[in-house]
Amino acid sequence: MRALQVRPGRGGGADLVSVDEPSPDEGSVLVEALALGVCGTDREIVRDEYGALPPGDEALVLGHESLGRVLAAPAGCELAAGDLVAGVVRHPDPVPCSSCGAGEPDMCKNGRYTERGIKGRHGFGRERYRLEPAFAIKVPPALGHLGVLIEPASVLAKAWEHIERIGRRAHWAPRRALVTGAGPVGLLAALMARQRGLDVHVVDLARDGPKPQLVRDLGATYHVVDVAKACTTADVIVECTGAPALVLEAMRCNAGGGIVCLAGLSGSKTLDVDVGALNQRLVLHNDVIFGTVNANRRHYRDAAEALLAADRAWLERLITRRVPLARWADALEAHEHDVKVVIDFAA
Ligand code: BGC
Repeated sequence: MRALQVRPGRGGGADLVSVDEPSPDEGSVLVEALALGVCGTDREIVRDEYGALPPGDEALVLGHESLGRVLAAPAGCELAAGDLVAGVVRHPDPVPCSSCGAGEPDMCKNGRYTERGIKGRHGFGRERYRLEPAFAIKVPPALGHLGVLIEPASVLAKAWEHIERIGRRAHWAPRRALVTGAGPVGLLAALMARQRGLDVHVVDLARDGPKPQLVRDLGATYHVVDVAKACTTADVIVECTGAPALVLEAMRCNAGGGIVCLAGLSGSKTLDVDVGALNQRLVLHNDVIFGTVNANRRHYRDAAEALLAADRAWLERLITRRVPLARWADALEAHEHDVKVVIDFAA
């Protein structure tokens, strides 16, 4: 069968190769791939900027945003042949740390977790793969092919869960949210902010293409200006770009008692910052800045609910390109007006 392979730590690049059928050791649920979402992390792995090989292997099967159909599942498991399924990305570390032991590998403390298609564990970019039932999420049939959005949505479902838990440290009545970046992560963050009834503002660089209208159709306001001009009264800022200048602006520009959620990964960059002034602001405002990554099972469930509650036509528009597996290289290349690119295994 065909698989999309990369070589993190060995110079990067990607290839479509022929591999063996998945070993039963990988899990008792056999899945046929339908679709695979492509994100910035995949492109970083291809450029050899991120990712890790499974121990003892010379290549990694890429892909962590999955949608598949169950071909076979053991009796007594929640899944049956024909069900739509998404794979959980992160697996607990072997120790396990207290978070992994508590079923929250997304909060792993020692960094020895593995992630499918990213770090030390083969991913979902192949025609068939296997899942352990504890790492398989049954996709509501009503979501259909949009189930491929469950993994990226799970990351934002976690972000919003944590924002709300932090908010409950004291009286909290948030009114306004600012999201930086109108890629898939930012748009899903904005969707979930609107679902919470917030006045939502989204900042991005794009002046044309689908992003401005996608934001407006959520009932949110789109800005092509810097964060300080877009909104200085946001109770919540969800930073989805990882761009160091925006990260800094987000920390400086929230309302008193604001919560700044950093959900984008930055490359290395030095900025001249008055740490004293920043500290004074954070302390005097009771601000919280926190980072968030990945998601656990409960967030996949919340993500499915958020997607089911969203306007289906709007979600369809998030997927701006569907590329057959045979043209995988085109999918891995970022095009100007892409929002979410999906590799179609069923084509
Ligand atoms: C994935 C997460 C993962 C993170 C860091 C993201 O692209 O969606 O599941 O934890 O990369 O590896």
